[in-house]
Amino acid sequence: MYHHLPLRSVACAVAAPTLLYALFLALLTIPYLQNQVIYLHRVNQTGSSDLNVPEHWGFLRNQVTPFHLRTPDGETLHAWHILPLGLYQQHEDRLVQEPASEVAPDITQRLSFQLLRDDPEALLVLYFHGAGGSLGSGWRPQSYRALSAGASDKIHVVAIDYRGWGISTGSPSEAGLLTDAQTLAAWAMNDAGIPALAHRPSLGTAVSISLAHSLATGAENDPVLFSGIVVVAPFADVATLTATYRVGKTIPILGPVARWPRLLTWLNTWIVSKWPSNARLAEFVRACQRIPGDGPKYDVTMIHAQDDYDIPWVHSDMLYWYGVNASSPAGITIGELEKEKVDSRVELGDGGWAVTSRSPSGVLREQIVKYGVHDRIMSYPVVSQAIVRAFGYGRI
Ligand SMILES: *[C@@H]1O[C@H](CO)[C@@H](O)[C@H](O)[C@H]1NC(C)=O
Ligand SMILES: *[C@@H]1O[C@H](CO)[C@@H](O)[C@H](O)[C@H]1NC(C)=O
Repeated sequence: MYHHLPLRSVACAVAAPTLLYALFLALLTIPYLQNQVIYLHRVNQTGSSDLNVPEHWGFLRNQVTPFHLRTPDGETLHAWHILPLGLYQQHEDRLVQEPASEVAPDITQRLSFQLLRDDPEALLVLYFHGAGGSLGSGWRPQSYRALSAGASDKIHVVAIDYRGWGISTGSPSEAGLLTDAQTLAAWAMNDAGIPALAHRPSLGTAVSISLAHSLATGAENDPVLFSGIVVVAPFADVATLTATYRVGKTIPILGPVARWPRLLTWLNTWIVSKWPSNARLAEFVRACQRIPGDGPKYDVTMIHAQDDYDIPWVHSDMLYWYGVNASSPAGITIGELEKEKVDSRVELGDGGWAVTSRSPSGVLREQIVKYGVHDRIMSYPVVSQAIVRAFGYGRI
């Protein structure tokens, strides 16, 4: 008789987590809850800090101008225009005298904007952040500063909170985020009159690749190309990500299911947001090859840290392969490519390694650093350097 109690409690201890997990998976098939898990846009990592007071994140007075962008489908996106420090220094007297930031009702009236629009040599990074938080979360403010470090009198950054994040309106969807990115690109080209550069980590990498793909293929006769695309800690697609992504570095959401590939595949059919960055990058490369005219059409750099436990760096390997395969007329298997990479890579010791693949229409790079985890890497010189290189500025 005395066996029963311990036995039952053991059974419960096993069954309860399994049942809870099954329930969790079932709930994930509901698109609303799924979006909460994929986009994490309601995770507020900035506490009560006001996103219209960039001094909270250490910026100088009027170094950042918060402003609003309206999307064609009626959302209001909250954005930051960040001046590089070198340029700020040159105009400091006038900048500090302007009324304090808050949301600029008309950004074209701001000195910071005029410094961007009226300098024919100004360069602009379009910053598409990753899942969770907002413009001011985590390492993002540091990374804005790092992005212009390579040419601190030239490189401006504009970052947005997508619909549903921070104090932007609406709620996320794959199509909606692409609209947001297109809205920012249109603003950069039309209002600021700047040939732009897209850039971003994890989720933002998928948005950047989607945007580059849509601009290169959207209007057949008038493709728009970026100077370059720098993606940091990207993922190949959501289906591959679900098997490997670890929430808070420890819990692979669908990891337990990944042991049964068919179950995982079936579960993935329920996921609404697919973000097929690998296939889109390949289509983008192919679209660039069809654009007439000499000279490079694409310049894509993938950067990943070996100690990234959120999104393992094999995702960059996979993206690189899709890109190189699309750029080689006969294609290349991943095995052949890996062999080629071992022979041709630039060894940087504790700095990791880098490989480059050039074709007449463009260049793809994969740079794997040893340290930088998932987010801190964004503020590292390896990224500053990639930005400068993508603008064709200096030789690296
Ligand atoms: C985060 O939460 C705080 C406190 O509830 C609030 O004041 C702040 O506006 C929130 N921030 C965002 C970006 O939602
Ligand atoms: C690689 O390229 C070949 C030839 O263009 C194509 O048939 C194949 O689908 C590509 N593979 C991947 C994984 O993109």
